[in-house]
Amino acid sequence: MILAPSILSADFSRLADEISFVVQAGATWIHVDVMDGVFVPNITIGPVVVRSVRRATDAYLDCHLMIVQPEHFIDDFVKAGANGITIHAEATRHLHRTLAMIRERGLKAGVSLNPSTSLDAITYCLDEIDLLLIMSVDPGFGGQAFIDAVLQKIEQAKALTQDRGILLQVDGGVTRENLPGLLQRGVDVIVAGSSVFDGKDPAMRVREMLETTPGDIG
Ligand code: DX5
Ligand code: ZN
Repeated sequence: MILAPSILSADFSRLADEISFVVQAGATWIHVDVMDGVFVPNITIGPVVVRSVRRATDAYLDCHLMIVQPEHFIDDFVKAGANGITIHAEATRHLHRTLAMIRERGLKAGVSLNPSTSLDAITYCLDEIDLLLIMSVDPGFGGQAFIDAVLQKIEQAKALTQDRGILLQVDGGVTRENLPGLLQRGVDVIVAGSSVFDGKDPAMRVREMLETTPGDIG
């Protein structure tokens, strides 16, 4: 399992420290939530902050773009030092073209689906995808509750991705309690925001999550 702590719930006044705590504890990816106030009802950060984060860590920078028309900003995130860019199927008219654009620049291309979006949205671009992100909350905020109805979609997504070398990622409301169920369903990359950064000791939270096995009782 790859753990990708989401810096959305970190203390931005000490961002480099927060990142180094979780990376030293074993997190190999850092999840960066980019919101535009249009696709989602919140505004967060953009390429400028990604560039600073890039200077602070060698970890894989997993940029989750919750913005409309992401095709206009791919190059900005590439230049800023992203390793992977995930776009929402609901946010672009040309999903296939935008995924190809990300790959042409040498990054991993991800597609994210809102809780209400069917897997059908990606049927015809599976060959262009390196990562499939199943949202388990409506995107926009950290600290929301996991939507259980999404578990069935995660199972179907695993069947779709496992023989194609596509990483399956889940984002939203992940806790130590529901993590074993996600591991049982074969999720490859776990995003965790508030469950890592909302406590006193993010490093300990990372270690606990990385030690969790599918057999642990949730
Ligand atoms: C939600 C973001 C998530 C968020 C997760 O729109 O995409 O990455 O930071 O936060 P938690 O883990 O607190 O639900
Ligand atoms: Zn996210």
